[in-house]
Amino acid sequence: MKILPKKTISHLTPYKANPLSSQCRAKLDANESPYDLPAEIKRRVFNELKRLSFNRYPDPDALKLRAVFSKKIKLPLKWITAGNGSDELILYLTLAFAKDKVLFFSPTFAMYRVIGISCGAKAMNIPLKTGFRLPLEHILKQKDASIIFISSPNNPTGNCFRKDDILNIIKKTNAMVVLDEAYAEFCKDSFLRYLKRFKNLVILRTFSKAFGLAGMRVGFMISHPYIIREVNKVRLPYNLGLFSQVAGRVALEKSHFLTRSLKTIISERERVFENLCRLNGICPYPSQANFILFKTCACSDTLYAYLTKNGVLVRNLNGYGGLKNCLRVTIGTKKENDLFLERLKSYEKKKR
Ligand SMILES: Cc1ncc(COP(=O)(O)O)c(C=O)c1O
Repeated sequence: MKILPKKTISHLTPYKANPLSSQCRAKLDANESPYDLPAEIKRRVFNELKRLSFNRYPDPDALKLRAVFSKKIKLPLKWITAGNGSDELILYLTLAFAKDKVLFFSPTFAMYRVIGISCGAKAMNIPLKTGFRLPLEHILKQKDASIIFISSPNNPTGNCFRKDDILNIIKKTNAMVVLDEAYAEFCKDSFLRYLKRFKNLVILRTFSKAFGLAGMRVGFMISHPYIIREVNKVRLPYNLGLFSQVAGRVALEKSHFLTRSLKTIISERERVFENLCRLNGICPYPSQANFILFKTCACSDTLYAYLTKNGVLVRNLNGYGGLKNCLRVTIGTKKENDLFLERLKSYEKKKR
């Protein structure tokens, strides 16, 4: 007898990373940092790990990691919980708080929908307005929403939403507002300072992007302690492994390494943007994250296939969340970005 899944998840598809990613010369499809942790910081992580017992469970509360993060953001420990990437924290928030409807915008990060549906909530997506702006009136009409997810800067559009719009939503809604700041380091702005004022605000941070720790899966949720308490009820014991706890803490203690890589990624973002603007048939959208969304005049599937065949992996977003003929490129090293731009130029020449 075949066992059937819940009806609600039957139309979901498993997440698949691109199988070509290890063969590409420029992997620019997942918004990772192009820079690994500096060697001396990795050495420190390994040295610490050598002294720890792998046969024992890790600290279930990731106390040392949270303590360093708490000092960094100047908020008490009880305002913070750590997760296996921010994805896991989105899952916990939804498990604990999605009573009926979860709300998000299109296009945005795919996991709000997948997790909402998986947890049995009604996943409602509202299209962003022209210029990728938040549809305020529409949002505030949704009286039965339990959670509103806002990614700012937004993935995949790259823009930050207007501060006043976000504040208006937080003030006027009865829902929990989860502000996903996965890319905050690239726009140098944050809503952390509003947390004490608004009890319905939750902020998510990740070490998968600017910190270059995607492989370690470290994320944080910051909110009023009454929310943390509820999330901790559904959080799995020992959710964050030993390696992740140590790597995250050491990277945070030595986070001066970030200044240089952030500066390079931001200046490369501006350089790639300007170059894209000069290309015929390509229209890039301004970005405050570590990636750029761009529209192509012709069908983006053909360009995507050409780039992949020629060693450059980007994300094809044709048809995603209302986007048409759009691709998203992550900012890589200068060499990777040059290869990407060069391939775009050769594609353009080939078409002429
Ligand atoms: C907006 C946003 N939130 C969360 C995540 C997931 O991050 P993590 O690796 O911490 O699970 C991503 C990853 O791409 C993202 O774009």
